[in-house]
Amino acid sequence: MAQIIDGKLISKQIKDELKEEVQSMKAQGTNICLAVVQVGSDPASSVYVNNKKKACSYIGIESRAYELADSVTEEELTGLVEQLNNDEGVNGILVQLPLPSHIDEDRIIRTISPDKDVDGFHPVSVGRLWIGEKGFLSCTPAGIIQLLKRSGIEIEGKECVVIGRSNIVGKPMAALLLRENATVTVAHSRTKNLKEVAKRADILIVAIGKRQFINSDYVKDGAVVIDVGMHRDENNKLCGDVDFADVADRTSAITPVPGGVGPMTIAMLMNNCVETARK
Ligand code: GUN
Repeated sequence: MAQIIDGKLISKQIKDELKEEVQSMKAQGTNICLAVVQVGSDPASSVYVNNKKKACSYIGIESRAYELADSVTEEELTGLVEQLNNDEGVNGILVQLPLPSHIDEDRIIRTISPDKDVDGFHPVSVGRLWIGEKGFLSCTPAGIIQLLKRSGIEIEGKECVVIGRSNIVGKPMAALLLRENATVTVAHSRTKNLKEVAKRADILIVAIGKRQFINSDYVKDGAVVIDVGMHRDENNKLCGDVDFADVADRTSAITPVPGGVGPMTIAMLMNNCVETARK
């Protein structure tokens, strides 16, 4: 029987550990503050932003919300980010993506000070990750490493295949697995013989963005499968990039959707916020 990796439980454990740490920081007079910037009122973004504010409140991190109209100019937004960079009372800055099309997302990300880049999206954070220097880690891949470690799954020396090469998941995932001494392959939509490549994996990480795309033909017996996808199936139920019903029996461990990778992203964002205040 496959082990079902419980991301909800593990993320709760991490948040509880952080809550304790923040309490003792507060007792020593240290306050942590996250600035959360949202442009427009995209319903999905509002849900994410609310969940981030709730997690802050649970852990004892102050959150300051900045809600800007869709019509905000790039200059106004960079102005706000610069003001937050210079505000000593703000530890972390998060600009919720996506931004409206008239705003250059890359420019906004580059405006955030690397010392406050709790999403880990700034090129300086990305560079630090790849050369093994201390810096903010991209939250979803960092959460996946925690899921594996806290489930007792060894990474060192394993064949890891990451399907997907996005800047937010695939690439930082590959860097983090390398740092854990795995042998890493990054596959993507143009990879030839994807089934054969995927079948090499002891640990298969799927962030391909296609609903229930990975079936048991892609999975070696006894592999660990981590599903980063999030979609709605024909019955409007949440599902991932992996066809869970077809794949689960073949694996030694697998993440469900929902309740697998999803809850870990916010837990690791909270960890990055706490990191701004660690000595
Ligand atoms: N939009 C979807 N996921 C994320 C995330 O992790 N960070 C930010 N800033 N925006 C997002």
